[in-house]
Amino acid sequence: MSKAPHSLFARIYDLLMVPQDRLGLGHQRTRLCESASARVLEIAIGTGLNVPHYRQATSVVGVDNHRGMLRRAIRRTWESPIPIRLVAADARNLPFPDDSFDTLVVGFSLCTIPDPEHTLEELARVTAPGGQLHFLEHVRSVKPRWSKMQDSLAPAWGRVSGGCRPNQDTTTLLDQSSWDVEEIWVSGGGGLIQGTASKA
Ligand SMILES: C[S@@+](CC[C@H](N)C(=O)[O-])C[C@H]1O[C@@H](n2cnc3c(N)ncnc32)[C@H](O)[C@@H]1O
Repeated sequence: MSKAPHSLFARIYDLLMVPQDRLGLGHQRTRLCESASARVLEIAIGTGLNVPHYRQATSVVGVDNHRGMLRRAIRRTWESPIPIRLVAADARNLPFPDDSFDTLVVGFSLCTIPDPEHTLEELARVTAPGGQLHFLEHVRSVKPRWSKMQDSLAPAWGRVSGGCRPNQDTTTLLDQSSWDVEEIWVSGGGGLIQGTASKA
């Protein structure tokens, strides 16, 4: 399981994100999680910022491969009325049998997990037939001026953020995966996508 060199990122993550959640991202987290139902798996749960937004889940398993992040998520799981189990694991090789979950949730993480193409297939493997993927991701902007800026920021940002690739075209990766994208909303200057996909 990973620890260094991204422990500093784990320590400051909430400081960076909580103000953004108050400025509107919190609503998008609600939309991401509120209809996630039955057996839910959240990939790369981080410090657990999505935990308070679950409404319809009967149980949630949260996976992350960074122990500093998981340690910070524990407090949020205690405060949740929904049973939440945290598991230290790599999203590319999940320790669950096929078809184990009804809804998969991923937020701001397909840009960080290495090999997102393989990861999307691994998520499909553990999802039951008819299951859904709920996603909220920052992506390569459709606006050339923004995407150019993302390209120039990418190397430095990746070093301080645990390997995040701000210029990754996750929209295309989803289209090319075995998931069927059902709904997709684009915001944030064309650099933020939110939506749902079903297991094909
Ligand atoms: C930007 S944070 C997002 C955290 C959380 N999903 C949120 O919405 O705030 C990215 C997370 O991906 C996790 N991560 C990166 N690579 C991973 C992998 N291979 N397997 C599992 N988690 C991973 C990191 O540890 C980190 O917690």
